[in-house]
Amino acid sequence: MERAQQALARLVVDVSDFPQKGIVFKDITPLLADADGLAAVVSALADAGRDGGEVVVDKVVGMESRGFILGAPVAVELGTGFVPVRKAGKLPRATHTVAYDLEYGDATLEIHQDAVAPGERVLLIDDVLATGGTLAATRQLVEACGGDVVAVAMLMELTFLPGRGAVGNLPFTVLMTV
Ligand code: PRP
Ligand code: MG
Repeated sequence: MERAQQALARLVVDVSDFPQKGIVFKDITPLLADADGLAAVVSALADAGRDGGEVVVDKVVGMESRGFILGAPVAVELGTGFVPVRKAGKLPRATHTVAYDLEYGDATLEIHQDAVAPGERVLLIDDVLATGGTLAATRQLVEACGGDVVAVAMLMELTFLPGRGAVGNLPFTVLMTV
């Protein structure tokens, strides 16, 4: 955890006025490009899927697109499958669909209806908690499949936005607050 926190502090770059004036974008690509930094954050996020060293989740779900980059290696580390929640129109078979608002703009997310089996325990992985819209929509999608979100893990929380409300009482691992 400490190694991951240090990597985030060192390797996440603030970019002002991207993608719109007034937004400070948190660029994680230097972190992803650093072998030690990437390993440290994947390991710290994967810990959210364990209890007392034992893996307690059946699936890792990651949200397009930065949640894919982090979620798939977390799934490999935990020995579970990975499920992508995608932006509208990308998944080829029957989907559940939820529309929601973003910090800037709006979006629609989808999941394959059979991607999570009823009763499966799910760990959600993404990079940033901002308004919480992406998290709330993803949770609805997992629940529409009959799955149960049991933990959430992200690199960063933007505490000046109300995302924590979408986390509710779920166990929430966050490595850096802004
Ligand atoms: C960003 C970020 C989170 C989400 C957080 O994704 O990667 O997924 O916004 O915002 P929220 O808490 O307000 O929903 P974005 O949709 O910009 O796309 P990307 O991951 O494809 O870059
Ligand atoms: Mg995203």
